[in-house]
Amino acid sequence: MMTGMHDDLFHPRHYRDVRRPPEEASTLPGWCYVSDAFLRRERERIFSRAWQFAGRLEEIPRGGYRAVETAGGPILLVHDGTLHAFANTCRHRGAPLAAGCGIASRLVCPLHGWSYRLDGSLESAPGMSIDHADHGLHRIRATVWAGFVFVCFSRQTVCFRTWSGDLTQRLASHDFAEFRVVRRRRYTVRANWKLIAENAMEAYHTGTVHGDSLGTQASRDLVTRGHWDAIQVLGEASVAVLPGQPVPFPPAPSLSEEAQTGTFFTTLHPNTQFACAQDSMWWLHYRPLTPGLTHLEVGQCFPESTTRRDDFAQESKAYFHRWDTGIDEDNAICEAQQAGISSPFHRPGRLSVREQAVHRLNNWIVDQTIDDGHAWRRIDAPR
Ligand code: FES
Ligand SMILES: [Fe+2]
Repeated sequence: MMTGMHDDLFHPRHYRDVRRPPEEASTLPGWCYVSDAFLRRERERIFSRAWQFAGRLEEIPRGGYRAVETAGGPILLVHDGTLHAFANTCRHRGAPLAAGCGIASRLVCPLHGWSYRLDGSLESAPGMSIDHADHGLHRIRATVWAGFVFVCFSRQTVCFRTWSGDLTQRLASHDFAEFRVVRRRRYTVRANWKLIAENAMEAYHTGTVHGDSLGTQASRDLVTRGHWDAIQVLGEASVAVLPGQPVPFPPAPSLSEEAQTGTFFTTLHPNTQFACAQDSMWWLHYRPLTPGLTHLEVGQCFPESTTRRDDFAQESKAYFHRWDTGIDEDNAICEAQQAGISSPFHRPGRLSVREQAVHRLNNWIVDQTIDDGHAWRRIDAPR
């Protein structure tokens, strides 16, 4: 790895083994997980161009705003009957306009009091005569699917519908529009964001890392179309509670036959996972802070009908316990893996048949970051 660090990190020859068929392929070079230069390239080519998850629509107050941190910068989601997304930076001298969430009829900058309407237009700039039309908030593309909000910082990127391919059909039967987020947990993980992404896309580790909790899991790979990927952990019982425990809540009523047979663990490239069980879903959203440090948010959702049950407060504890246990175990192993990858003796490794989704994730990263003749698979490639 050390010679590579002084070499051109982005030369295609370093990535030829990642490009091999899965049974012959190796993982990404170690510097992809530890190098500032590689993260800079990911910011330029991935996070500034991709559609990214930004929370649930029901969390944005009607007639109000919610400030959200994304891997492409801080944004404000505003709901005045229409959903808007703006860069959370004042057009005067850049102060953020708001933190947290709240009801507001206008957005007033805390630094010098410039005031913006909820549609982002400048209402007043005290003591200054400037052209208001030229000083509205910077608008960001935003869309909603099934109650999930997505934003995109690039005008060139295809629309979300094209971006997400068959994701929305494949997950349609869960009817996530009828879900409600009931809990969020935030973690700072001392690991590269891609290790978190890879971890949740293979069940090879579950018998070892989660041997005393989740146990061994059988999985299959899904063939997907669009900028997402999935495996399905098989089993008619929800994996959102620990194995052997009673499953307190019923499955979502409209589940397809395929969805009844197991839990979809999906990656919405680049940095979100939706784990879709029969009775609940949870998301992992990870935002790189540095190459070796990632902000991880876990959001937990149930069908609204489940949240209204008299026994919800009591019975949901089994789900929270399972989620917290699994996340703590995964975070710990990702941190340990990051330390191992930082060794000067680390070299890319081979992948098992149960890690084909890791191979696909690695290839998606190479598609975006390395100029090795696959530009047609880029985020902003014309469709
Ligand atoms: S920075 Fe916002 S009003 Fe000055
Ligand atoms: Fe895990």
